[in-house]
Amino acid sequence: MRNPRDFFKPLAIDAPEPAREIPVLPSRMIHFLDFSNEKMVAKVPDIAPTVDILLGNLEDAVPVDRKEAARAGLLKVGREMELGDTQLWTRVNSLESPWVLDDLTQLVGEIGDKLSVIMIPKVEGAWDIHYVDRLLAQLEARAGLSEPLLIHAILETSQGVANLEEIASASPRIQGMSFGPADLAASRRMKTTRVGGGHPGYRTIEDPESPDAVEAPRASYMQDPWHYSIARMVDACTAVGALPFYGPYGDIKDTVGCETQFRAAFLLGCVGAWSLHPVQIGIAKKVFSPAADEVQFAKKVIEAIPDGRGVHMIDGKMQDDATWKQCRVMVDLAEMLARKDPELAEAYGLAPATA
Ligand code: GLV
Ligand code: MG
Repeated sequence: MRNPRDFFKPLAIDAPEPAREIPVLPSRMIHFLDFSNEKMVAKVPDIAPTVDILLGNLEDAVPVDRKEAARAGLLKVGREMELGDTQLWTRVNSLESPWVLDDLTQLVGEIGDKLSVIMIPKVEGAWDIHYVDRLLAQLEARAGLSEPLLIHAILETSQGVANLEEIASASPRIQGMSFGPADLAASRRMKTTRVGGGHPGYRTIEDPESPDAVEAPRASYMQDPWHYSIARMVDACTAVGALPFYGPYGDIKDTVGCETQFRAAFLLGCVGAWSLHPVQIGIAKKVFSPAADEVQFAKKVIEAIPDGRGVHMIDGKMQDDATWKQCRVMVDLAEMLARKDPELAEAYGLAPATA
């Protein structure tokens, strides 16, 4: 048993107090970069203003012989580059790897005040979070940090899915989760080589017109093989005030497929997705910023029902206390994004940020 009163106590002497609330910031895309590539490091000043979150990837997709260079490149970005209000995150190597201890020690020790969130891959259960939680507290204390680093878990093993709720509630550091369809497919032995998206083999079909007509053409639709896990992730995260994200969409050329996958995640409650290529930045921006007509309608409801009570008809649709809250979700998001993006402020009819 853990004493619940200890949940918000630092796990090391002189470590910062754990965060009571997870900050809600523009987070439409987590843009992945490999900083072992010096050209990528040089592009940071151009890319940073175009994204909400910039992530220095150290794990999968970074070749073994470039692991240290990727870490060194991220340290350089953290030490030398001004990112404005763009958040700097990292994805460290997995907990069983030979690199993760140096990843965490060097990053927290040298740029712990610049990083806000550390993504931990292949989290299987609360024990993984407890390990990182204590280690981060020790490293934060040694580095003299005043703000705690937050943990973002990638949901990408079947055990991780089975233990979702306990992962989400394992530490006050849990900032959110991302959905990792590639590792998850492998872990589950799903028979797909795709990274996210649908699959033509996973579908439903309408009944035959008669028992003799099984070969006749019939309407058939692809289904979403990820729906169950993403929906569970959304519940586990939002139940503890953390933020759910869709992860990678691997078919870079299929911009429409990517948009469709991102939008399904947005509708279910995800706040953003990973962008693996510049073309996906624009897709995430479009999808995870609510549509102007939805925002206008939500504003109309809130203006018409200032106290959010009772039952009303607006444009032929029933509105009550619950729909008012739905509209608040839409308008709160729109207001937050409008403060960052003057074009959205105009599209939503909201005042842009005053400097
Ligand atoms: C992401 O890391 C994935 O495995 O899909
Ligand atoms: Mg993965």
